[in-house]
Amino acid sequence: MNKIEIGALNFSYPMPTLLVGSKVGGRPNFITVAFCTAVQMKPPVLAISLSKKRYTNAGIKENGTFSVCVPSTDLLGAADYCGIYSGKEVDKSDVFEIFYGKLETAPMIKNCPICIECKLTNVIDILAEDEIFLGDVVETYTEEQYLTNGVPDLLKVKPFILSVRDKRYLSLGENIGTSWEEGKKFK
Ligand SMILES: Cc1cc2nc3c(=O)[nH]c(=O)nc-3n(C[C@H](O)[C@H](O)[C@H](O)COP(=O)(O)O)c2cc1C
Repeated sequence: MNKIEIGALNFSYPMPTLLVGSKVGGRPNFITVAFCTAVQMKPPVLAISLSKKRYTNAGIKENGTFSVCVPSTDLLGAADYCGIYSGKEVDKSDVFEIFYGKLETAPMIKNCPICIECKLTNVIDILAEDEIFLGDVVETYTEEQYLTNGVPDLLKVKPFILSVRDKRYLSLGENIGTSWEEGKKFK
């Protein structure tokens, strides 16, 4: 086994492709985000890492809310658009049909199969370039068509993932096992 060194890469593979919604100066705005992870199950907490240069940051701080929406492959073009153009230069409020939930200031996307509404709890400024926004999950919105046995079914949701170093978007593969089960047969 000859391992080769390819540098100090901090990317986990795969990375999600998500759309984070906020209201900036009263206008809905969406940013494409790959640096997003769940950091606690109960109560549910999400973390997103944004460059301080983003237009989005001020809106999240202003309202204390943000959304994390999961686009399907059919929204790939629109999702990439939101990751190329900043709200500083273009109005992204008309890219998607929007709805609001309990928090009333976190815009969400009607065409996204899963939308998660978050209340900002912390902004962690530990890095030179980026800041981490922690949000308590207040509600998750979906449709019956994306569920199997009452839980989101990723094969129906059809999210896409980012392979960041070669700039490729990839779709999901097939079901290859059951978590917390396969290991029981291992030994
Ligand atoms: C696939 C993809 C993933 C991205 N992930 C992030 C991210 O996790 N954090 C970040 O700050 N910017 C990320 N970006 C860059 C922003 O989406 C981009 O700079 C966007 O135009 C900023 O929008 P805003 O200025 O309206 O907030 C990503 C872009 C793409 C295309």
